Amino acid sequence: MSNPVSYLITNVYNGTSFYCQDGESVIDAALREQRIYPYGCRNGSCGACKTMLLSGEIDYGIYAEHALTENERQRGQVLLCQARPLSDIEIDVRELRSGKDIRIRMMPCRVIRLDPVAQDVVLMSLALPKGQDFNYLPGQYIDIVLKDGQRRSFSVANLPDEASEKGLELHVRRVPDGRFTPRIFDGLRLRDLLRFEGPFGTYFFKSDSGSKLLMIAGGTGFAPIKALIKQALNEHPEIRIHLFWGARNEQDLYMNDWIRNLQKTHSGLDYTPVLSEEWPDHWQGETGFVHEAACLHYDSFAEFDVYASGPPIMIESVRSSLLERGMNPDQFYFDSFEFAPQST
Ligand SMILES: Cc1cc2nc3c(=O)[nH]c(=O)nc-3n(C[C@H](O)[C@H](O)[C@H](O)COP(=O)(O)OP(=O)(O)OC[C@H]3O[C@@H](n4cnc5c(N)ncnc54)[C@H](O)[C@@H]3O)c2cc1C
Ligand code: FES
Repeated sequence: MSNPVSYLITNVYNGTSFYCQDGESVIDAALREQRIYPYGCRNGSCGACKTMLLSGEIDYGIYAEHALTENERQRGQVLLCQARPLSDIEIDVRELRSGKDIRIRMMPCRVIRLDPVAQDVVLMSLALPKGQDFNYLPGQYIDIVLKDGQRRSFSVANLPDEASEKGLELHVRRVPDGRFTPRIFDGLRLRDLLRFEGPFGTYFFKSDSGSKLLMIAGGTGFAPIKALIKQALNEHPEIRIHLFWGARNEQDLYMNDWIRNLQKTHSGLDYTPVLSEEWPDHWQGETGFVHEAACLHYDSFAEFDVYASGPPIMIESVRSSLLERGMNPDQFYFDSFEFAPQST
C-alpha cells in the first residue's frame, strides 16, 4: 500500500515546518498542527490569510478577485485558506500566539435563548453538552453546520467563563431570503438541537495595557467587539478604548444600554453611535457612515490598534480611509462578515 502524499511546509518567518496532506489547505494543515496563522472567513473572500509564497507549487483554489488581485498573485502572494500544495513549499507568515490550549471541535448544542432585540436581530444562546468545555479566545467565531453540511459563521459575543454558565451568545441578523438566518427567526425553538464546529479565526485581542484601541462595529459586527471589550477591560481596566458602532437606525443599536452601563465603571471607554439611515429628532450621536464618523473625530490613526468587524463593504471602507490617515496596517485587525460561498 502506498503512503498518502504529503508536502512539507516551511515557514521562514520562524523556521518551523509541518506536513500538509494532499488536497488539504495550508490553513487547515496549520490548524491541525496548532499553528495559528492570520485568517478569517476560510472561503477565499476576506484576504486575511494573504501571504508570500517563496518557493514551491500550489493550486491557488477558488477565491474572490478582491481578496487576491492578479497583481498580488503575480508578486507571489497566495491565500493560505485556499492554497493546496503540489510540492514542498516555503512561505513567510507571521505566526500568532500558540493555540495549544485551543482545540477545534465539532459539538452538538441546544438553543436556550432566542431574544429578538431589533426588527431583524436576535440574540441566540447555545448551551454546550454537560461536562464538556469549549475553549476559545474572545473575538473568535463558530460555524453552525447545517443538515446538508453547509456552514454559517457566527462570532461569539461573550467570554468563555460566561459561556460555560449561560451558553455561547450569538447576535444574528436576518438576511432576507437567506438559507439559514430566516429559520432562526421563524422556525427555530428553544431546546432545539444544532451542531457547530469551532472556534475559528484570528480576530482576537493582540494589544497590551498601553495601547489605544479604536473599535469599529457595523450592525451585528458588534458581537465579537463586545467580547473583545470585555476582555480588554478585564485584563487592563485603565485601557483607553473608543468604540464606534454603526447601525441603520436607533433600534439596531440593540446593546446601547449595555455599553452605557459599562462606561459608568470604565472612564477610559468612549462610545460614539452612528446612524446611517434614519434617526429621531432627539438624536445626539453621529449620522452617516461609521468610518466617516471615526475620521471626523481623529486626524490620525497612527497611534491606534484598530479592531473592526461587520459587513465586507464596511471593513473595506474602514481600511482604506484609516490607512489614508496613518493607520499602521500591522495594527489593523478585522473580521469581515463575508457571505458563505455556495449559498443557494
Ligand atoms: C467570520 C464570520 C463571522 C460572522 N459573524 C456573524 C455574526 O456574528 N452575526 C451575523 O449576523 N452574521 C455573521 N456572519 C455572516 C453569517 O455567517 C452568514 O453569512 C449570514 O448570516 C447569512 O446566512 P444565510 O444562510 O441566512 O444567508 P445566505 O443563504 O448565505 O445568503 C443568501 C444571499 O443573501 C446575500 N447575503 C448574505 N449575507 C448578507 C448580508 N450580510 N448582507 C447582505 N446580503 C447578504 C448574498 O447574496 C447571499 O448569496 C459572519 C460571517 C463570517 C465569515
Ligand atoms: S480569504 Fe482566506 S481566510 Fe478569508
